[in-house]
Amino acid sequence: MADSSLRTSPFLAACRAEPHDHTPVWFMRQAGRSLPEYRAVRGTGSILDAIADPELSAEITMQPVRRYGVDAAILYSDIVVPAHAVGFGVDVKPGLGPVVDQPFERASDLQRLRPLEPEIDTPYVLETVRRVVTEADVPLIGFAGAPFTVASYLIEGAPSRTYGKTKALMLGDPGLWHDLMERLADMAITSLRSQIDAGVSAIQLFDSWAGALSPSVYERCVLPYSRRVFEGVVDTGVPRIHFGVGTGEILPLMADAGSDVVGVDWRVPLDEARRRLGPDAILQGNLDPAVCLGPLEVIEAEVADVLARNGGHPGHVFNLGHGVLPEIDPAVLERIVAQVHAFPLGA
Ligand code: CP3
Repeated sequence: MADSSLRTSPFLAACRAEPHDHTPVWFMRQAGRSLPEYRAVRGTGSILDAIADPELSAEITMQPVRRYGVDAAILYSDIVVPAHAVGFGVDVKPGLGPVVDQPFERASDLQRLRPLEPEIDTPYVLETVRRVVTEADVPLIGFAGAPFTVASYLIEGAPSRTYGKTKALMLGDPGLWHDLMERLADMAITSLRSQIDAGVSAIQLFDSWAGALSPSVYERCVLPYSRRVFEGVVDTGVPRIHFGVGTGEILPLMADAGSDVVGVDWRVPLDEARRRLGPDAILQGNLDPAVCLGPLEVIEAEVADVLARNGGHPGHVFNLGHGVLPEIDPAVLERIVAQVHAFPLGA
């Protein structure tokens, strides 16, 4: 993206609570899922193969930007790409999510998580970034999975509802947990720094499942490592977003990890989030994705409610409270973007 467009990006301005002329909006999981043009180019097989094809991944990254008119692109990749690339043995099953043949169990499994060398292990990610930033006139968001959420996939071996094995390791073998989390934090830092070097303008750390933890366990076993990731990229100066689902109880702790922007899911209204985090908090969110399946007038009222609860604060990036559901009609997302953009700022 050209420097002049970066200087005037409402998304980047909102991430810093600087003045801008309309509320910026993008959608988590905007790439793929509900877009027919995604299904047309995606093919079958593992998403990891699609991600390894920079021409295809750059096209998929751009599809929602063209279709919806969102204020940012998000890199088409996945949080398990670095672990896959160093040979841990993780795949992504369509419709299910990450699966691992031999889940992480013991100290010897640490050897399967050698340090990431982005130019060698994930050159296709960097090539996709370079292609998108040449083409796009909106900022590109890079991302990584937070150490806890990535660990949960590596330990459980498949998506889990209880995180039983993860919690057993975390609480039962703090030394091994620490070693695993340090490796995953360093992997996230290395991956994020390589994406930033290649041209992304902002980064998001996805700790999607952190809401499964109590505040005291989060603070002791997870927060130090997410903080390490944010500290590990602070010198780059790009805005850093921190997101998880069901995080109402741990929101102040997540904010303590040191991001610039805190993502909020739909369970905590934005005005309540600022009561918990302080009036200057810069927030991203938080329309319930399921609302997008309802009647248009209900969607419109809910979008208006999110905007109203932000109260004209310059630090707000409109988003869903979690990702786009596959059933959502792309026309609905287009209308939401138009409504958010038409909202008078400062009103
Ligand atoms: O906005 C975007 O779509 C950008 C690309 C993106 C993907 N995964 C592509 C993807 C991003 C930002 C992710 C991150 C990711 N991956 C997260 C964090 C975000 C979140 O939703 O909380 C998590 C938890 C994963 C792990 C993962 N990957 C799951 C649970 C699934 C399956 C769920 C599903 O809806 O099918 C995936 C597969 C996946 N990653 C798909 C896409 C577009 C869908 C399936 C496919 O096309 O193969």
